[in-house]
Amino acid sequence: MKIIVHADAEGAARAGARIVAEVVRRKPNAVLGLATGHTPLELYGELIRMHREEGLDFSRVTTFNLDEYRDLPPGHPASYHAYMEKNLFRHINVPGQNIHIPDGRAEDVPAFCEVFEESIRKAGGVDLQILGVGTNGHIGFNEPSSDFRSRTHLARLTESTRRDNAFAFENSETTPPHAITMGLGTIMDSRSILFLALGERKAQIVADAVEGPVTEMVPASVLQGHPDVTVILDEPAASRLRRVARV
Ligand code: GLP
Repeated sequence: MKIIVHADAEGAARAGARIVAEVVRRKPNAVLGLATGHTPLELYGELIRMHREEGLDFSRVTTFNLDEYRDLPPGHPASYHAYMEKNLFRHINVPGQNIHIPDGRAEDVPAFCEVFEESIRKAGGVDLQILGVGTNGHIGFNEPSSDFRSRTHLARLTESTRRDNAFAFENSETTPPHAITMGLGTIMDSRSILFLALGERKAQIVADAVEGPVTEMVPASVLQGHPDVTVILDEPAASRLRRVARV
């Protein structure tokens, strides 16, 4: 794992966006794995700026999102479909038919999950997967004790995740209890991974994921076994790491 620590969230977001931009410039038909949450917002903002001001071209890019809540009504503002549209897709030129986000309303979930996996394979696999992390170590919606080999599936959210994500809903009771998520095995198949964590809230789980034992109780620790992971942190998120090189 390559660990890069920036003084603040803005520097971290810019560094992350530079990595994404390099992949897209080197391979104009790159396949990007995308995440939601607060963490990648500034990174997406920087990609939008690069698209507008530097001509960063997404016209041949394909994207796969990690996850989506189960059963949200179409267009629900807390859906990850709405998040992606608002925070990235409507501002750049990735073609609609190249965008893949799990369909939380799929009737036959196992069949949908198989098709989603097959679409990733047909696209040639994910070149760069962007990841945030939940305070309990989840990536995508792979909660503690998820199988490291899991593929895209219907996952049950823990109470702590529902509390963390309740800001987007009325309260944790109305936060959906399930989501469709890429599995840990799906994520580990990506050629490279950009793992972004910001803020003091994430300091302990970052230390556990990066320096702690590899255990299914900390899903993000699976990344220690991936050959090409760049971890980008701000100072507060890095504050509990013992071995880091600061930039
Ligand atoms: C959600 C998403 C994750 C994300 C996590 C952290 O649960 N499913 O993909 O990484 O939240 O969110 P935030 O970046 O808001 O801390």
